[in-house]
Amino acid sequence: MRDTYARAEKIVSTLSTDDKIRLVSGRDAWTTEPVDEHGVPSIMLTDGPHGVRKQVVATDHIGINNAAPATCFPTAVTLGSTWDPELIEEVGAALGRESRANDVAVLLGPGLNIKRHPAGGRNFEYFSEDPFLSGKMAAAMVRGIQSQGVGACLKHYAANNQEFFRMSIDTVVDDRTLRELYLTGFEIAVKESQPWTVMCSYNKVNGEHADISRTLLTDILRDEWGFDGLVMSDWHAVSDRALGICAGLDLEMPGSDGSWDSQVDAAHNSGLLTTAELDLAVTRVIDLALRTQNDKGSSQVDPAAHHELARRAAAAGTVLLTNDGILPLERTGSIAVIGSFAKKPRYQGAGSSLVTPTQVDTFIEALRASVGDAAEVHYAQGYDAATGETEEALLAEVRDAARKADVVIVLAGLPDSYESEGFDREHLRLPDGHIATIAAATEANHRTVVALLNGAPIEMPWSDGPAAIVEAYLGGQAGGSALADVILGDVAPGGRLAESFPVSASDLPAARDFARHAKQVQYREGLYVGYRFHDAAGVPARFPFGHGLTYTAFDHSGLTVRKTKDGYSVTVTVTNVGPRAGSEVVQVYVRDPESTVYRPEKELKGFAKVHLEPGTSQKVTVRLDRRALAVWDVRSQEWRVETGGYEILVGASSTDIRARRTVTVTEGQAVFPAHGPSAFVATDDEFRTMLGSEIPPVPTAVPFHRDSTTADLHETATGRMFAGMMTQQAGRSYDWDNADASTRRMFETNVRSAPLRQVAMGSEGKMSFASLDRLIRILNLTSAKAWREHG
Ligand code: BGC
Repeated sequence: MRDTYARAEKIVSTLSTDDKIRLVSGRDAWTTEPVDEHGVPSIMLTDGPHGVRKQVVATDHIGINNAAPATCFPTAVTLGSTWDPELIEEVGAALGRESRANDVAVLLGPGLNIKRHPAGGRNFEYFSEDPFLSGKMAAAMVRGIQSQGVGACLKHYAANNQEFFRMSIDTVVDDRTLRELYLTGFEIAVKESQPWTVMCSYNKVNGEHADISRTLLTDILRDEWGFDGLVMSDWHAVSDRALGICAGLDLEMPGSDGSWDSQVDAAHNSGLLTTAELDLAVTRVIDLALRTQNDKGSSQVDPAAHHELARRAAAAGTVLLTNDGILPLERTGSIAVIGSFAKKPRYQGAGSSLVTPTQVDTFIEALRASVGDAAEVHYAQGYDAATGETEEALLAEVRDAARKADVVIVLAGLPDSYESEGFDREHLRLPDGHIATIAAATEANHRTVVALLNGAPIEMPWSDGPAAIVEAYLGGQAGGSALADVILGDVAPGGRLAESFPVSASDLPAARDFARHAKQVQYREGLYVGYRFHDAAGVPARFPFGHGLTYTAFDHSGLTVRKTKDGYSVTVTVTNVGPRAGSEVVQVYVRDPESTVYRPEKELKGFAKVHLEPGTSQKVTVRLDRRALAVWDVRSQEWRVETGGYEILVGASSTDIRARRTVTVTEGQAVFPAHGPSAFVATDDEFRTMLGSEIPPVPTAVPFHRDSTTADLHETATGRMFAGMMTQQAGRSYDWDNADASTRRMFETNVRSAPLRQVAMGSEGKMSFASLDRLIRILNLTSAKAWREHG
C-alpha cells in the first residue's frame, strides 16, 4: 500500500461525517477541498489533454474564457497517427512539466473514447477507432505525464462516443461489444500505466448513468483491472451523489456548493451509504492530494524546446495519403500557396481542450523561411477561414495564382465551427468553399498538393484530382512548420491513419443510429466499427486504417512466429529499399478463420515503428499475449481462447498485408456461441440476442424529472417558458464577447442537452434539489392540466 494511502486512512479516521461529505465534492471549478489541520492541500485539476488550460481569471469548462499561455501540442488525432508510444510519452512528460510548473496536480487527459463514427464532434480529442491502439497511446501519455509527479486522468469512461445529447444519452450496447471495443483501451491504459485518476462520462450505459455504475466503476475498473486511483465525475455529470459513492465515484467535479450534502447525509444515516463506502471515497481524495503534494516542486519549462517537440510530434503524425511523386517538393521555381488556413491555421479543436498557445507557426511563414531565396512563394486566400465560404472573385485569384505557379499547395480542411466538443458534424464533406478552391486550383494546375487541417475524416470524392494529399490533422501550435518540414522533405511523413476514411458516411453501419435520437443510441453494428466493418463487409474505405505513404519504400521479410510462455513472438525484418530515410509501422493483426462467435475479419494486436536510413534493415519483434487471440465470452464473463488455427498477419496497413503465418491453439476453451449483426446492422431479433434481453424502449420526454433536458421541456408550453429562462440565466454566467462561433454553438448545445439537475448543481447553492423537485412537480402538473383542457 502507498504511504500516502495509509496516511489518508489515518486522517479519515479522525474526520467528522460533515467533513467527509465536504471532501468528496470539489471546492470549485478546478480544485479540491483541503484539510488544513492535517496538512492536506487543495489541489488543482485542469484540462487537458494536449496542453495545460489553466484558467487564471474567470473559469468555465467549455473554453470560453482564456487560459494562461501553454504549449499547444498536437491534438490526440495527430498524436494517435504517430503510432509512436515513445514519442507520445515524451509529449506526456512535457505536459507534466508544464502542469507542475503551473501548480497543476492533475491534467485532465488523455481522452481515449473510440471513434465509433467519423462525425463525432470530439473525435479530434481521441486517438483511434481501434481500442488496442487507443490503449497503447493513452498508456504512453499517462506514463509521460506521471513521470513528472503529476496525475493523469483517463476520460471519458465509458461508451461516450457522440456529442449529441452527451449529457443524458443512453448508450445501448451489448456486453461483448462493450468489452472488446469500448472498454479494452481503458483496460490497457489502466494496466500498463496505473493512472492516478479516471473520469466517468456523462452518459448512461444500458440505462444506468456512468457515475452510479458499480459495474463500471468498481467491479470492472478496480476489481478486474486493478485500478487503485481516484474516480472523478465529468464536469456536472453527477446524477445521484449517494449512489455514486456506493458505486465507486470518489470525487464530484466541480463542487456543487453542497447541493448533494443533505442527500448524502440522509443516505448515510439510513445505512444506504455505509461508513466504509464513504470513507473509501474520502481516503482516495486525500490520497490523491497527498500524492501530488509529495511531488510538488517547481519544474523547469523551456517553451522553445516544447515548441520544437510539438513540431516533431506534428510531423510524426502527418499522414501522406496520396503522392504521384510530386512530394517532397523541390525548393525551386514558383510556389502558389492557396487557402486562408495557410495564414490562419486550424490547429486545435474547440471546447474544454482549448489551449492558449505560446506561439503559433503558420504554414506560409514556415515555408518562406525554409525555401529562402531558392523559390518564390505567392499566396491566394481561396476561402474565408471562419466560414469556409468562397466567391467568384476569390476563385478567379486562385486560378490565376495556380496557373502562374510551377506548383500549388492548397490548404483546406474544416473550420472551427464544423467540429467541436458539444456537437457532432452533420456530414463529412469539406465546406463548399474549400471544395471549390481545390477544384479551381487542380483545374488550373495539375501539379497541386492538398494539405488538410481537420480533426476527423472527411469524404473526398475529389481525391483523384490533386497530385498529392497530405493529412496534417490538427497539429497544435507548431503544425504549420511541421507541415512545411514534411512537404519539403526535411522530415519524412511519419503518420499512419489511426482511423478509416470512408468513401461515404452512408456506407457505415453506425450511421443508422448516430446522433439521431436525443434519448437513446443503439450500437446495433456491434463490433463493426471502422476497419472491422470495411474488411468484413468488403466495402473499401477510401483510405484504410493503418495507411500512410512515405518518401521511400520498405520491404518486410523473414516473418517468423514463435510460441512463448504466454503467447507469441512475431519477428520480421524491415528494410528501407528506397532512396530516403523514413519510418515504417509494422502492424500485426490477428484473424480467426473459424470461430464459434462472430468476429471481425482481423484485429490489430501489435505494432512497432522503426526509423531507417536508406539501405538499412532492422529486425522488429512484436509480442502477442494470450489475450491477442481471445474473445469476451458473455456466458463465463471472461476472456477465452478457442481451440483452432489463427492467422497472424503482418503488414503496412489493414489492407496491405505482406505476410501471414498460422498458429494453432490445441487446448483452448469453449466459448458460448454468439451471432452478430448478419448484415452489419442488427435486426431487432439479432439485437435482442446480442443484448441478451429485450431492447429497452426509448424513454419519453414527459413527465419531467431531474434527468429531463432543456430540450425535453420544449414538449410543453410551461416547459418551454422555463427552458427559455434557463437558457438566459446560463448565458448570463459567461462572457460572450470572447466566444467564437463554435464555442457559442457548443454552449447552446450544452444548455439544450443539460439535465435539469444541473440547474440545482450549478446554482451556487441558490436552488436546492427540494426546490427543483417542487418546480418539476409544478411543470408536470401544469402540463397535465393543459393536456386535460386542450387535449
Ligand atoms: C469535458 C471534460 C473536461 C471537463 C472540464 C467537460 O465538459 O467533457 O473532458 O475535462 O469538461 O473542462
